Amino acid sequence: MTVHIGAEKGQIAETVLMPGDPYRARWAAENFLEGAELVNEVRGMLGFTGTYKGNRVTIQGSGMGMPSISIYANELIRDYGAKTLIRIGSCGGMQPQVKIRDVVIAMTCTTVATPSSTMFRELNYAPCADFGLLEAAVSAARGRDVGVHVGGIYSSDTFYDERPDLNEQMTRHGILGVEMEAAELYTLANRYGVRALGIMTVSDHLQTGEALPSDQREKTFGDMVEIALEAAFA
Ligand code: HPA
Repeated sequence: MTVHIGAEKGQIAETVLMPGDPYRARWAAENFLEGAELVNEVRGMLGFTGTYKGNRVTIQGSGMGMPSISIYANELIRDYGAKTLIRIGSCGGMQPQVKIRDVVIAMTCTTVATPSSTMFRELNYAPCADFGLLEAAVSAARGRDVGVHVGGIYSSDTFYDERPDLNEQMTRHGILGVEMEAAELYTLANRYGVRALGIMTVSDHLQTGEALPSDQREKTFGDMVEIALEAAFA
């Protein structure tokens, strides 16, 4: 047990998928894993461990925002020995070619700050995805009926943003989408020498104002879970 995760040491797999929403963790575990068991419910941040094609996997909610995912990723890596961590979430599209329902796979993430910023001081650290995972996720995604984009994303600290000029600068600089967690996950994975990747479906679009209807979210989320699982064990 750790401060925020109630699982015993052996109950967490080396491969962990991390949706922001704990109910999504339950949905993914019920629909994609065999023999899934609840391993964490501290603060309602549900985590499940089961198998996918014979490989052990944990699906653990991360909560929203970098401070929250930082807590879970730190404990998963440092206390439970997680070696592969894949964020599965949503993002807002920031380029015209990035459409609702498409999948964005993040090579790197720009931020105003991460929980690690105080440590980096004057450095603008560029958190980086694991290339092997990225390559495997791209080939898993290309075999499906879904648009795929690979590039930089923006990990923001705000959903209700009082600085729309920041989004404008990100769009001008080719950033594909905005979400709120990946940069800190990548930073921690880079620090501790483990693999991380962020795979996001486009749930809304900052330029067009479109949003994915709730009845279609499950299908696109399912595509992403399968891409993540295939990439993890490629
Ligand atoms: N902003 C920040 N995070 C998000 C968004 C957004 O528009 N959409 C999905 N995650």
